Amino acid sequence: MAVRVIEVADFDLVVFGASGDLAHRKLIPALYHRCCDGQLPEDARIICSSRRAYTDEEYRDWAREALGEHVGELEEARINRFLSRLRYVAIDIGSGDGWDGLKELLDERPEVVRAFYLAVGPDLFGTICESIGANGLVTEKTRVVIEKPIGKDGKSAKALNDTVGAVFDEDQIFRIDHYLGKETVQNLMALRFANALFEPLWNAAHIDHVQITVAESLGTGGRAGYYDTAGALRDMVQNHILQLLCLVAMEPPESMDADSVRDEKLKVLKALAPIHEGDVDKLTVRGQYRAGASAGGAVPGYLEELGRDDSTTETFVALKAEIANWRWAGVPFYLRTGKRLAQRVSEIVVQFRPIPHSIFDEEAGTISANRLIIRLQPDEGVQMKVMIKDPGPGGMRLRQVPLDMSFAEAFKVRNPDAYERLIMDVIRGNQTLFMRRDEVDAAWAWIDPILEAWANSKEAPRGYTAGTWGPSASIALVERDGRTWAEDGL
Ligand code: BG6
Repeated sequence: MAVRVIEVADFDLVVFGASGDLAHRKLIPALYHRCCDGQLPEDARIICSSRRAYTDEEYRDWAREALGEHVGELEEARINRFLSRLRYVAIDIGSGDGWDGLKELLDERPEVVRAFYLAVGPDLFGTICESIGANGLVTEKTRVVIEKPIGKDGKSAKALNDTVGAVFDEDQIFRIDHYLGKETVQNLMALRFANALFEPLWNAAHIDHVQITVAESLGTGGRAGYYDTAGALRDMVQNHILQLLCLVAMEPPESMDADSVRDEKLKVLKALAPIHEGDVDKLTVRGQYRAGASAGGAVPGYLEELGRDDSTTETFVALKAEIANWRWAGVPFYLRTGKRLAQRVSEIVVQFRPIPHSIFDEEAGTISANRLIIRLQPDEGVQMKVMIKDPGPGGMRLRQVPLDMSFAEAFKVRNPDAYERLIMDVIRGNQTLFMRRDEVDAAWAWIDPILEAWANSKEAPRGYTAGTWGPSASIALVERDGRTWAEDGL
């Protein structure tokens, strides 16, 4: 299938933190792919900046290595074409040295779209934004991109958003949640709103419950320092998982326009029933991995990896959420995420209610309720579990089979990384897939009381062996309601 490329206007993209991990793993490879697909205008420039004293050539060598590691199959001519777009400016954010060089470069083309990507820790957002403002670098076509974590609670998120908001208007601020750029996440919107089939059934009358699982087999990698200050609830639930929940639960927006979509997501976040301190033990489970086997070998526990034995940071969380509105009242949304789990898999499972009455006799077997599985990764796809008659003679015996749609098989195209789409959306000025400030606030408003209750609790997170599905209490969380975590997968 041919790749369709949407043209974007000429731009200067400035990446702060350009010698960091995100640039290495995601940003440089994403921009390279966009370049290869012909989406970057002829004169578009990628201006990379960090504290290190690289020359353009030295930075290009660094970028070449990043491509070698994360892209594979490289063609020399294509790489050179891409690398020739890269410029490097050393800036020491602390001392303020180096801004003149950036200003000089940017002033060459004040008329083009200008995007500042802050691939740095949030502690630097304020200083960078202030310097961008003080150096007169904000033009009408300027945007700024910030990465999570956006705060560690509602209060710090407000302070951070105020700092960025002092220099940029809300419609210039692009808060990335890379889950929104994933192909299947957008497919969720296509599935719901481009098919007549699902929407009439998409409510408490027909849906029994929803499960959202984002399981990782890896541990905290080289990010233990950050992770220990965050934990699974802040790292994954406050943003990615709540955003997925919003897309499953929101009302049909008026259009795909950014504010229409974000207005509907906001309503869902506001309708989340608060989890009060007294209910935290019943509705949440937090865990921390112990040594075990994962990703094909023996692995140490979280505390060993961290080199401390007093951390109570959770590496796993399971929650039972309720959305208190007409569409969803009484339908639990079971959410779980964790590191060092049995398998890397992210999926949304929509469990429909059983048929109201069976006309079949006992020999037909059990009639399982329909289940829609939307798999985000790996092997993106959608599957609908339906009952059919077992083929051949032998009477009317029924069984459940999957109506399967694997995207990799159906569309023989490379599945673009979320960052490819999101960076291009920034250039195009399309905020549909980015979080608005009030969404961030509403998400924290639901998360904060859980964090407080955990902080007040004397209990430590429950241990689970690396390579399993988390603490047994998370299984009990669902089984108490007479349900089970779906493990049939795609
Ligand atoms: C990041 C989290 O936002 O998402 C990481 O900080 C996590 O801890 C990552 O590993 C997962 O992203 P993906 O795209 O690999 O599912």
